[in-house]
Amino acid sequence: MHHFWDERYQQEGVYGKDPNPFWVRELDRISPDALNHRLLLPCEGEGRNALWAARNGWAVEAFDGSAVATATCLRWAKEAGVEVHAQHTDAFEFEADESGYSVIGLFYAHMPSNLRMQFHERVTHWLCPGGRLILEGFGVQQLGLLSGGPRDKSMLFTPEMLRSDFASLEVIKNETASVVLDEGPYHQGLGHVVQFIAQKPDQCVIP
Ligand SMILES: C[S@@+](CC[C@H](N)C(=O)[O-])C[C@H]1O[C@@H](n2cnc3c(N)ncnc32)[C@H](O)[C@@H]1O
Repeated sequence: MHHFWDERYQQEGVYGKDPNPFWVRELDRISPDALNHRLLLPCEGEGRNALWAARNGWAVEAFDGSAVATATCLRWAKEAGVEVHAQHTDAFEFEADESGYSVIGLFYAHMPSNLRMQFHERVTHWLCPGGRLILEGFGVQQLGLLSGGPRDKSMLFTPEMLRSDFASLEVIKNETASVVLDEGPYHQGLGHVVQFIAQKPDQCVIP
C-alpha cells in the first residue's frame, strides 16, 4: 500500500500545495489558543494542510505512511519557514502525544473497510477532551465521478457511517456536499464529499 503512495508522490504537489478550502474555513473559526494548542493531521501526505495550520499559529504534528510524501512535507515546511513535526509512520503504529490534540484534521484518509472503524477509533482516542475533529472525504456517490478518490465503494463515506464510527463524539456537522475540486492533478473537477465536524465531550461520559 505505502509503495503505491510512494510511487504517486514521486511527482510533487499531487494534491496541490494550497490547503483544502473546508479546512481553511473551519480551522479559521477556532483560536490556536484553544485547549492545548496542539493539532494533528493523520495521513497528511505532502503537508498542504499542515503548512497552513502552522502558519496560523498551531503547534502542528502530521504523519503519513509514504516516506516520499513525508520528506516533501518536511522540505516544504523548511522552505516556508514554519515548524511541522512530520513523521513517516503507519496510522496503526503512530504514537500520539499523551496530552492529546485540540484539533485533528482528517482529509481524504480512506482506509480499507476492514480497518476503517479501528482507525477512526484511534483518531477519537487521540483527541483531548473538548478537542475537535474536522474531516472531509469522498462520499459513495463519488464512484460515478472521475475527479479522484478510491474506486472501491467500501472505502467511501456516508454520513451514517461516520455518525456510527464516531458515536462517542458530539456531532456539529455531518453533511454530503458537491464541491469543485482544484487540488493538484488527482483532485480535479466536480466531487461528492462528506464533511464532518465533531467534538469530544469535555467530561467523562459514564456508559
Ligand atoms: C488521498 S491522500 C490525502 C493526503 C492528504 N491528507 C491531503 O489531503 O492532501 C491519502 C494519504 O493517506 C496516506 N495513507 C493511506 N493509508 C495510510 C496508513 N495506513 N497509514 C498512514 N498513512 C496512510 C497515503 O500515504 C496518502 O498520503
